[in-house]
Amino acid sequence: MSKFYVTTPIYYVNDRPHIGHAYTTVLADVLARYHRSLGDDTFFLTGTDEHGQKVEKAAAKRGMDNLAHCDETVVRFQELWKKLGITNDRFIRTTQDFHVKVVQQVLQNLFDRGEIYKAEYTGWYCVGDERFFTEKDLVDGKCPECGREVQAIKESNYFFRMSKYQDWLIDYIKTHPDFILPAFRANETLGFLKKPLNDLCISRPKSRLAWGIELPFDKDYVCYVWFDALLNYVSGVGYLQDDKTFARWWPATCELIGKDILTTHSVYWPTMLKAMDLPMPKTIFAHGWWLTGNAKMSKSLGNVVNPMDMIAKCGVDAFRYFLLAEMSPGNDANFSEETFTARYNSDLANDLGNLLSRVNKLTIRATGGAVPCAGALEDCDKEFLAEIESASATMRTSLGEMKLDQGINAVLSAVRAGNRYLEKCAPWALAKEGKTERLHTVLHTAAEVLRRVAVLLSPVMPEKMAALGEAMGIHADELGAISALDTPFDWSNRTMKEIEPLFPRIVEEKKEEAPAKKEKKAEKTIPEMPLITIEDFSRVVLKTAKIVSAEAIPDAEKLLKLQLDLGGESRQIVAGIAKSYAPETLIGKTIVVVANLQKAVLRGVESEGMLLAAKHGKELKLVTVDGEIPAGCRIG
Ligand code: MSP
Repeated sequence: MSKFYVTTPIYYVNDRPHIGHAYTTVLADVLARYHRSLGDDTFFLTGTDEHGQKVEKAAAKRGMDNLAHCDETVVRFQELWKKLGITNDRFIRTTQDFHVKVVQQVLQNLFDRGEIYKAEYTGWYCVGDERFFTEKDLVDGKCPECGREVQAIKESNYFFRMSKYQDWLIDYIKTHPDFILPAFRANETLGFLKKPLNDLCISRPKSRLAWGIELPFDKDYVCYVWFDALLNYVSGVGYLQDDKTFARWWPATCELIGKDILTTHSVYWPTMLKAMDLPMPKTIFAHGWWLTGNAKMSKSLGNVVNPMDMIAKCGVDAFRYFLLAEMSPGNDANFSEETFTARYNSDLANDLGNLLSRVNKLTIRATGGAVPCAGALEDCDKEFLAEIESASATMRTSLGEMKLDQGINAVLSAVRAGNRYLEKCAPWALAKEGKTERLHTVLHTAAEVLRRVAVLLSPVMPEKMAALGEAMGIHADELGAISALDTPFDWSNRTMKEIEPLFPRIVEEKKEEAPAKKEKKAEKTIPEMPLITIEDFSRVVLKTAKIVSAEAIPDAEKLLKLQLDLGGESRQIVAGIAKSYAPETLIGKTIVVVANLQKAVLRGVESEGMLLAAKHGKELKLVTVDGEIPAGCRIG
């Protein structure tokens, strides 16, 4: 059994968690779930960074005690991780007693061994990054990391002899190609190490900053927040507390970070570990940034994406899927609601949701639900199975190479192949022609591929894949092991149950177009309108419906939510008629609706159908019937 210990950076407790924090944590969670599923002994650590000037300032601004402020704000992270289904084994807070003790013991030990010394210091300090810089580090007199103003500071401080490890570190990075990934980040670190490395100032005088861990050998100082924070990776797994636990987990297999905290992790941390005589983590992986509108997210630009809003809008699993599928770890990715909706609708609603819904319905129609046994496999069945086998292999490689987006993409390719397979084998025609054995083989093969898709995507979308499994009579526990994926599965006594669409399509409210443009578009589309057959038309079920209630939808100025009576059946639909009808004028009207339209979600509200209306320019008139007629009558 292999071991897998994964960490995230510990987040500053005074920030509101945003999509960047959510990304690292979901990435770590998916890696941890995959490794558990491969049977690896897995530990996943995350937490919060609670000391330092930023937290002290934030607490002072609120007139609060530092720890009370942390206790209150840490909950934002803990709640978000719960919502996102994060399966961390431990949540560490740097204000916890055990961590404070470990940091103090490390400091004392390094001090006793002469690795830490006291000296007078003159330098430039960036409050935002909580880091000191020398005159030559500055760029145009500003912080080289974030470009903010720096303060000139002269004081006595304690220093860690980081410089003496410079040659060792260069050599270690060069001889361990997996140590800092992607490789271009290792080169970036080597570039940084071309300049002489300074010793690291690891103290702050209490007169300037009191919120930190007190130095055990000088009560007038607290520990520099980064020195304290980095030690969480070892204190969180028993260092200096429980030798057995520590030996089980350390060194970490994968430390995930964002590219902006590369130097602290690729220079400070390894040299600290070297001085402590501890082995290095196997890999420090720096991912890119989430941008919005191709710009860095910032409060002042007002473009910060709040994960809670996205979860409310699209659900947890779709959000997790998007984060993982859209970003190629290592590179930056751009977030926009349009990219989100496009990916959701194409990958999840169209490809995966559609495949499940077709296999589910066809099986229920053919056998009443029982997943049938397969007869002799034909070439097309074997080719389809080969697609998912290759996706499974790609997923495993992509895990090792931290290219999860490629693994996910391979699974989605197999799903698309599934929809093509159904078109080609046409099980509906096989049923009509009474070719039962062939029909059963096709349905069995499609169900088997869907099962493997569910196993492979479970770490990314645990709840949705459990629902997918359940629709095929498979319990969530049976989806847990990628290691057993290619061994035969016992399909006896598995029954498909009717299910609601797993991923209802998201229909965005259309933006108002300029009238001139609209006229032009109308002219163009009419000659291109394809003709349909009477069979095509008969697939659309139109019915009369009585409007029972109507109400506006907050923040959606064009939409109304309507409750309808379809002759004993109640339906809720969302319609873009708010500009033409006041809600109260609609009650009691008999209108015409498309009754067999797939469910959709508009602005977070479910819609089970569509009403008909005629449109002329901006004017909109509902289609009604000529005289009294009951609700629920078929129109045709
Ligand atoms: N507290 C330090 C880390 C100490 S680890 C021993 C810290 N905290 S942070 O809250 O500011 O940032 C945490 C992580 O979020 C960093 O890895 C950072 O790269 C990441 N992100 C912050 N904004 C981001 C994006 N817009 N996109 C992706 N990740 C980004 O730094």
